[in-house]
Amino acid sequence: MAKPRLIVAPGLPKAVFESLPDRFDATGGDRNMTVEEALAAASDRAAEALLVSHRHKMTADSIAKLPDSVKILATVTVGYDHIDVAAAKARGLIVTNTPDVLTDCTADMAMLLMLAASRRAAEAELLMRKGWRQNFGMGEFLGLRVTGKRLGIFGMGRIGQAMAKRARGFDMRILYSNRSRLPPELEQGARYFAELKDMLPLCDVLAIHAPSTAATDKVINAETLALLPKGAILVNTARGQLVDEEALLAALKSGHLFAAGLDVFRSEPDFDLRFAELPNVFLTPHIGSATVETRNAMGFRALDNVAAVCSGAPAIDSL
Ligand code: 8YV
Repeated sequence: MAKPRLIVAPGLPKAVFESLPDRFDATGGDRNMTVEEALAAASDRAAEALLVSHRHKMTADSIAKLPDSVKILATVTVGYDHIDVAAAKARGLIVTNTPDVLTDCTADMAMLLMLAASRRAAEAELLMRKGWRQNFGMGEFLGLRVTGKRLGIFGMGRIGQAMAKRARGFDMRILYSNRSRLPPELEQGARYFAELKDMLPLCDVLAIHAPSTAATDKVINAETLALLPKGAILVNTARGQLVDEEALLAALKSGHLFAAGLDVFRSEPDFDLRFAELPNVFLTPHIGSATVETRNAMGFRALDNVAAVCSGAPAIDSL
């Protein structure tokens, strides 16, 4: 039987890329294609499947340009805010994502950002690269302790729960705000807040783990940031769209926030360079899921979804 014709828009990890010919008649995967290139390739090849990443904005317009041969739009991400899922479904497309496999590494990244922000890692690292050569008094270069502090988690899905699990190892008290309350076995003593605004005044650290939707756009803004106690820390590994960056910059400059650890930005990869001028921000370039193991697992999970659908079986991760 002929192998399914697949267009791969993102550059894939080596192991995933090298596996393509075993199962697919694939185009791409060796570099990042633009959406336009991917759409053109899908038409030229009468593709049955298109694999994208979060850098590929699959708007209703782009989806309308897909040839009728396409059955599945598979994103190699857990988030799917870059896809107009309703438009895709209206065209009869199956849309899949890659949940579960990136949960641990993304939560690890959130821990890294929390610790780096609280212990002034950006300043410390820069100082070392400049040669150090200055003694500090005991009252200098002080960060904040995280052990025993209160961690507020906005969005208590898989990644939020994995963050809570890690933070419990630091004796942190867990608060969370989520659309719905978790059952006790998942809540594990964490305190639930139906309203984010009620949780914020109690957070020493606020970690964002909610998806980007119309309802969460700029949910972290001047008003909500002001509700955090002075000296709080903000961590974001979810999406920049949840944050009003002007308001965040102001809160970091004024000292209302002690620090922030940011892996995601409203405009990637062209993030607001004013963040880079602030000493109290630890910055990473959207690498929450970027480990060899996790990126391989994400790639294979996306391919498994494509293979399933192209063989007439149900998708593993249908949205
Ligand atoms: C990135 C992510 O998209 O899965 C998500 O939602 O944001 C990340 O894993 C990753 O860079 C994939 O290219």
